[in-house]
Amino acid sequence: MKDVRTILDQNAFSFERLDAGDAPLRTLVQQRLSTVGPMAMLFYEQPLHIVRGQGCWLYTADGERYLDVYNNVPALGHAHPKVAEAVYQQMRMLNVHTRYLHEGIHRYIERLLATLPASLDRLVMTCTGSESNDLALRLVRQWTGKQGIIVTDGAYHGNTSAVTEVSPSAYKRGAPPDYVYQIPFTELAQQADPAAWFAQQVERGIDELEQRGYGCAALLVDTIFSSDGVFADPVGFLQPAVQRLHARGALFIADEVQPGFGRTGDALWGFLRHGLEPDVVTMGKPMGNGFPVAAVAAREELFARLNREVGYFNTFGGSTAAVAAATAVLDVLEQEQLIEHARRVGGELKHGLQQLQTTHPEIGAVRGAGLFLGLDLVDAGGEPDAARTTAVINALRQHGVLIGAAGKFGNTLKIRPPLCFGSDETAFFLQRLERALGVSGAGH
Ligand SMILES: Cc1ncc(COP(=O)(O)O)c(C=O)c1O
Repeated sequence: MKDVRTILDQNAFSFERLDAGDAPLRTLVQQRLSTVGPMAMLFYEQPLHIVRGQGCWLYTADGERYLDVYNNVPALGHAHPKVAEAVYQQMRMLNVHTRYLHEGIHRYIERLLATLPASLDRLVMTCTGSESNDLALRLVRQWTGKQGIIVTDGAYHGNTSAVTEVSPSAYKRGAPPDYVYQIPFTELAQQADPAAWFAQQVERGIDELEQRGYGCAALLVDTIFSSDGVFADPVGFLQPAVQRLHARGALFIADEVQPGFGRTGDALWGFLRHGLEPDVVTMGKPMGNGFPVAAVAAREELFARLNREVGYFNTFGGSTAAVAAATAVLDVLEQEQLIEHARRVGGELKHGLQQLQTTHPEIGAVRGAGLFLGLDLVDAGGEPDAARTTAVINALRQHGVLIGAAGKFGNTLKIRPPLCFGSDETAFFLQRLERALGVSGAGH
């Protein structure tokens, strides 16, 4: 069935099923409803009560352990001692906002900017990917004097009101406003020349936004297209689109919230894999290994232009403890050589999934780079099979593996474990996936 799925509905627990699980679990679910209320999302047909994490593993209240193949935030591994220690020491010493001088933030930003193209020479710290994308939208609109934004039709960029409007996959009803042009991204896979097709789409988007009277300020994409279903290839396919944008006075925002900090196994940033030079880069999630820290990098002139019109201050963004967490993350990425590790183990994992595909016709495709892979499940006619995907996710949970779904039709298994995932975990996952495919296929 080819129903469009909102990203936030994927693998969601249905609160109509309050009878799920044992009595203590039911009590917690009831408490969730009576405190957080209708927006209280939970995962799985039977929600999980996690009490501890260590490396790639999560442990429940009743002592079960689960392999985490879902979480991109604790990218170094759950409860990483170096990050925990750095935050603890800093919190005991000082934790304040950025309106006092402090060397830590300068050292950190210098180090991070050195990993980005030289034209991106300033960086502002925020707390979340959403805040970063919100600020990025303001930068590009102020710079170009235009309102329109081009995104992919399965995109998710965050939760502020401005950013929700450029996140088609967040809409349960209705659609993004008229100043948003959506590229029909699922068509990319059928294109003989994806780069030329994507550039044409961008050109069409600019024309359309001009006709609608908004003009085009920017193309905003997640450079691994996670919510679209994980598309890393072909390498460089975004280049002609970015050239067209620049030729027509529009900017390119690389949303690195998902691929950033080494996940693709090629480089620290997803856009570098494509050989791009963005005008604005946004980042977050793994940046603090769970401590809320995020950022926006751009040319000084873009920040200066916005700053002439409106001030920007973020109470918690770049606080001394946030910088301590973020610094520890860069240290560990280097010390544990996690980019190289993601490339090697991600390669093993992809190979294993491709092997599985040869004996499982329901695996329609295996895509991705490093430790960010997508696996499509399809029905006998080759159509997206979201029901089967949900069944596999819940079967994997029964077999001790946590994983999520992605893609416009909700039929992509999103394989995105912490970067410390090793060969043993890969073997465990492949074995459990094979078992889950068998179980979930039994009734189909
Ligand atoms: C590509 C992308 N950008 C931005 C965000 C928003 O980040 P946050 O939830 O930290 O606000 C997300 C969150 O899932 C994301 O996947």
